[in-house]
Amino acid sequence: MKPVLAPRDRLIVALDLPDVAQAREIVRRIGDAASFYKIGYQLGFAGGLDLSRELLAEGYKVFLDFKLHDIGNTVEEGVRSAAGLGVTMLTIHAYPQTMRAAVAGRAGSDLKILAVTVLTSYDDRDLAEAGYQTTAQELVERRAAQAREIGIDGIVCAASEAAAVRRAAGAESLIVTPGIRPRGAATGDQKRVYTPGAAIAEGADFLVVGRPITTSPDPRAAATMVVEEIAAASRPGRSEA
Ligand code: C5P
Repeated sequence: MKPVLAPRDRLIVALDLPDVAQAREIVRRIGDAASFYKIGYQLGFAGGLDLSRELLAEGYKVFLDFKLHDIGNTVEEGVRSAAGLGVTMLTIHAYPQTMRAAVAGRAGSDLKILAVTVLTSYDDRDLAEAGYQTTAQELVERRAAQAREIGIDGIVCAASEAAAVRRAAGAESLIVTPGIRPRGAATGDQKRVYTPGAAIAEGADFLVVGRPITTSPDPRAAATMVVEEIAAASRPGRSEA
């Protein structure tokens, strides 16, 4: 059974910032309004792994969004190293060989492996261009079902895909959705956006929110607003994701 999480612990703030000093400052300003941070390529290649150690030492959770995909042995050993850091989540691409290697690499640790089925920037035309003879929707569902068979812990997907992913990946799968915009926030380059409440209603367990918090004049207030929306959408009586 999945543990029931406090609303605050379901928010993952994306630290998409160019350097550690700026990231540290955002974390300081958010304070205890958030407990979970995502570090991707941008910050990862600019000192983000050292920052992740600091965040872990301060009691925060860390999600490394590095979307690994390589030969099985390389993925397995890379995942083993990530597990050794003590981070909570790591992304990989949902190719069966990569997923099996990641599950082997995280054995004996608490690391949760999240699979990215089809990047949300890909549509059917992009897949055809890349040589696939399937639609994005079919491939998302096929890979989510394979993730379940292989023992992957969760799936990263758009909120619009969450219900179909839930059916394919099962009740125990974690569903993590980016592309979240609180009411009134600028959409930026995200095309299909959901409010926090709508994403929870679609079955998301965790929401990834970046710029609406990190570029806000008051990041703490922005994070608190998202957490309040999560709380309202997951009150008793509503199905707990
Ligand atoms: O700033 P924003 O809230 O759009 O940030 C969303 C985060 O989620 C970014 O770190 C982005 O890389 C990530 N992401 C996404 N869409 C996906 C997968 C990850 O926006 N399909």
